[in-house]
Amino acid sequence: MTETAHFVDGDKELDFTKVRATDGQFGYDVNGLLSTTGNIMLDPGFVNTASCESKITYIDGGQGILRYRGYPIEQLAEHASFLETAYLVLNGELPTAAELETFENGIRRKTLIDERMRDLFRCFPRRSHPMPVLSAGIMALSTFAHTPTSADLDTLDDAAVSLLAKVPTLAAYGYKNSMGQPTLYPDNSLSYIENFIRMSFGFPTEPYEFNDAITRGLEVLLILHADHEQNCSTSTVRMVASSGANLYSAISAGVNALSGPKHGGANQAVVEMLQFIRDSGMTTKEFVEKVKNRESGIKLMGFGHRVYRNYDPRAAIIKKHADKILELHTGRQDLLEIAKELEETALSDDYFKERKLYPNVDFYSGLIYEAMGFPINMFTVLFAIGRLPGWIAQYREQVSTSDKIWRPRQIFTGADERDWVPIDQRG
Ligand code: SDX
Repeated sequence: MTETAHFVDGDKELDFTKVRATDGQFGYDVNGLLSTTGNIMLDPGFVNTASCESKITYIDGGQGILRYRGYPIEQLAEHASFLETAYLVLNGELPTAAELETFENGIRRKTLIDERMRDLFRCFPRRSHPMPVLSAGIMALSTFAHTPTSADLDTLDDAAVSLLAKVPTLAAYGYKNSMGQPTLYPDNSLSYIENFIRMSFGFPTEPYEFNDAITRGLEVLLILHADHEQNCSTSTVRMVASSGANLYSAISAGVNALSGPKHGGANQAVVEMLQFIRDSGMTTKEFVEKVKNRESGIKLMGFGHRVYRNYDPRAAIIKKHADKILELHTGRQDLLEIAKELEETALSDDYFKERKLYPNVDFYSGLIYEAMGFPINMFTVLFAIGRLPGWIAQYREQVSTSDKIWRPRQIFTGADERDWVPIDQRG
């Protein structure tokens, strides 16, 4: 039996259908509000509004729960590979051994990019931030590839495999270009993660020696970033998908949305914040006081979340890995100690407790990336590599469940109608 909620405004009234959820909040379907009342809802930042129904990821912000297709993130981080997780996010089920082997081999065969694309990287200044290079690289890839749209969903699987295979190559090439170092062709005898690490840090002049803790640590970080329901960059991907634009255009737009410091760019901003505290000689207490003084405009980067009103489950997992990996790089212990002290100071302060501000996925991740040898400006690129399966899955869900273009309305509060004023009568 369909449940409804009754809405009354003066002489206008209608029933909103309640859209049931497997877990978490249900939705009031406000379809008919405009046609019945002549008015619309206003919800800046979409704090109270769902854009879609989805079957991919579930987050319970109060309980600190994150599940991909029903599987708890803690179990996937413990047991899964990144490609196993990508398969799950994309297809809805964990792969059998045969399905995983086919998926891995398909990706292994597509890690190369067109030779002409290698010139693309030489066009960018070496000081370029790798996020615009990645976004441009994905659009350049689209000029060499068949780019599926909602009209040909059957080719989406091939495009997904191609993007999963080539984006790490793009990222590594962009990084090598910024260092003025030669790029390495992928070595398909390696695992997905090893291939990316070697293309990023290897040299054609010598074999690359892997460190298993680093390789598994990066794989867990990518697993933790694989999807996160309707965050800013994923909503951007779905918005672009709704226009009928192809997959590559939507993913490139997602990369650009992710680059903002309030979103994926926060992992870079956290390490810069920790370095500032260290180099200024400021105590964590003094820094927290600056954050609480709103005039400063300083945020505690890596803290707070629109959905999590509890500890981000990903941050807890990353923190455990940080201890392990940073032991390998004692030089980074200083920033980790500042981060732990900063967390303790903030979590004992009413300003953060009252606003339910806890460490999010970005608070410790940058420390691990830096300990792995990545420069600060590569951190958000690593976030994008992890998020890619989620973006693709959300693109597919958007185009296969709705053909309605996303076109939000507005509340107009500007000037009322007025007549033209000749320029000699202005001012
Ligand atoms: C990601 O959405 C996702 O799922 C994103 C993500 C994913 O996997 O895709 O989880 C990845 O983007 C994580 C978030 C990374 N960003 C940061 O760490 C940047 C710092 N955090 C803030 O910018 C902020 O917390 C946001 C953007 C993350 C969330 O902002 P909201 O939900 O819009 O909350 P808000 O800005 O309305 O803040 C509510 C209050 C305000 O104070 P009051 O006006 O009530 O006095 O909390 C304060 C804010 O000033 N506040 C902070 C703060 N975050 C919020 N104060 C100090 N430091 C902070 N970090």
